[in-house]
Amino acid sequence: MKLLNSWLMASAISTVAARPWPRAANTTSTYFFTFGNSYTQTGFSTTGEQPSPSNPMGNPALGTGTTTGGENWVGYLTTAQNASLVLSYNLAVGGASIDNSLVQGSTDVDLASQVDIFDETYSSKPASAPWSAENSVFGFWIGINERNPSETGPVLTVELSIGNAFYNTDADTFTPQLIARLASLVERIYSAGGRKFLFLNVPPTSRSPMFIDQGNATVEQHAAYLAVYNRNLEAMVDGFKTNHTDSVLSIVAVLVVVSIVVSLRRRVFLC
Ligand SMILES: *[C@@H]1O[C@H](CO)[C@@H](O)[C@H](O)[C@H]1NC(C)=O
Ligand SMILES: *[C@@H]1O[C@H](CO)[C@@H](O)[C@H](O)[C@H]1NC(C)=O
Ligand SMILES: *[C@@H]1O[C@H](CO)[C@@H](O)[C@H](O)[C@H]1NC(C)=O
Repeated sequence: MKLLNSWLMASAISTVAARPWPRAANTTSTYFFTFGNSYTQTGFSTTGEQPSPSNPMGNPALGTGTTTGGENWVGYLTTAQNASLVLSYNLAVGGASIDNSLVQGSTDVDLASQVDIFDETYSSKPASAPWSAENSVFGFWIGINERNPSETGPVLTVELSIGNAFYNTDADTFTPQLIARLASLVERIYSAGGRKFLFLNVPPTSRSPMFIDQGNATVEQHAAYLAVYNRNLEAMVDGFKTNHTDSVLSIVAVLVVVSIVVSLRRRVFLC
């Protein structure tokens, strides 16, 4: 969590270069746009109450709208681990894949659609969200999604659905397609003026009970697939940095973000 915290703080620091601990003013607010699936969603609606200093999550109330109830990493970073005022615009939707035409998630609002919504709503830097390259951070956590509940019965099980892909596609050929699609979406945010990007990688879902129950071969095959995905994600981020030297991109390995993983494993993988 330290990593994430210091990363969001970096956004504040760069706008108040001389003051490493900007406590006083609210001139350092960070516009935090997030995209992803159930790990990230807070039920935010672009047409509801917008984030403001007195209500940094906008809507719904902090601690509601998440997949499992309570706060998730977005709420935590916005309101608890923040080094300055953070305003959160969270476009993530549970069940999302990167692009339904590549891997079908369990929502129409895949990551590509979330970026469409960003384009339609916030890319023009409206008066309600006057973000700039310096004061905004774009967070992506994708690569995991829910199986369609109709396939699994009443119990919500979570699987890595690069994942749904892992059963029937080859990691070495397919994950580059997924990551290329992700890169194209990041490129669109860049075109709109975003320069600071944060990526959370895919946590070790291979060791979740759902996969363990299917035996070691599945666990191993899945872990291998996941490793390829995460490697491709890292390569994409490195490539993007090389081609966009005015940008800051950072990957947070979810493995080291212990509090997130613990709470996710307890609340999501086991439910
Ligand atoms: C900054 O603080 C002022 C006065 O408290 C408030 O009116 C304004 O909305 C704040 N702006 C931001 C972006 O936080
Ligand atoms: C962190 O966010 C909360 C909620 O918006 C705010 O009350 C608090 O002042 C922020 N902390 C700092 C250090 O700016
Ligand atoms: C699975 O792997 C673990 C550790 O490598 C081993 O102890 C266990 O016996 C294996 N189970 C099966 C069913 O092969």
